[in-house]
Amino acid sequence: MRENIPVVIGEDELRRRVGELGAEISRDYAGRIPVLVSVLKGSFVFLADLSRAITLPINLDFMAITRYGAGKRGGVVRIEKDLDLPITGRDVLFIEDIVDTGLTLGYLVRNLQAREPASLAICTLLDRRVRRLANLPIRYIGFEVPDRFLVGYGLDNREQYRNLPYLGALPEEEKRAGTS
Ligand code: IMP
Ligand code: MG
Repeated sequence: MRENIPVVIGEDELRRRVGELGAEISRDYAGRIPVLVSVLKGSFVFLADLSRAITLPINLDFMAITRYGAGKRGGVVRIEKDLDLPITGRDVLFIEDIVDTGLTLGYLVRNLQAREPASLAICTLLDRRVRRLANLPIRYIGFEVPDRFLVGYGLDNREQYRNLPYLGALPEEEKRAGTS
């Protein structure tokens, strides 16, 4: 434990599960070169570990978005940085840190689908199914998590804690204390 953030999913468990996901993806995509697409910034640690657990040749690409509207955690999305690579005819694997309401992901999946990839599958480290509003088929799930705000392993609270090496639960008082 660091910085008074209690552990929810520890480093060993993360390493083990990400390794399993990498092996599963390597089997499923054998003989192909998938494009791993992720949205900055929350997925960066998961993507770094997952991509190295995949034993196939891959391409990587990034998007940047801003969410606005009520709560900022879903709803309206604006693409600030689009993919560099064309994905038409490619096998796209969309990598997420956490799917909460699923509204952001739903928007992005529709946007990518319109570019006519050969296939499009979703891989998320964390699935908070209790809050799901959009029904999305998620092919690879690391862990199902309860409705508590998580930080670390890439996830932030107001741009802090992304470098915590484990997933932790943010104390309630810190959530309230932040800026913006
Ligand atoms: P939604 O699925 O559209 O509601 O939004 C999911 C996004 O909200 C994720 O990709 C994260 O960036 C962010 N998010 C949701 N829950 C958490 C959390 O517990 N900690 C940190 N970020 C979160
Ligand atoms: Mg995200």
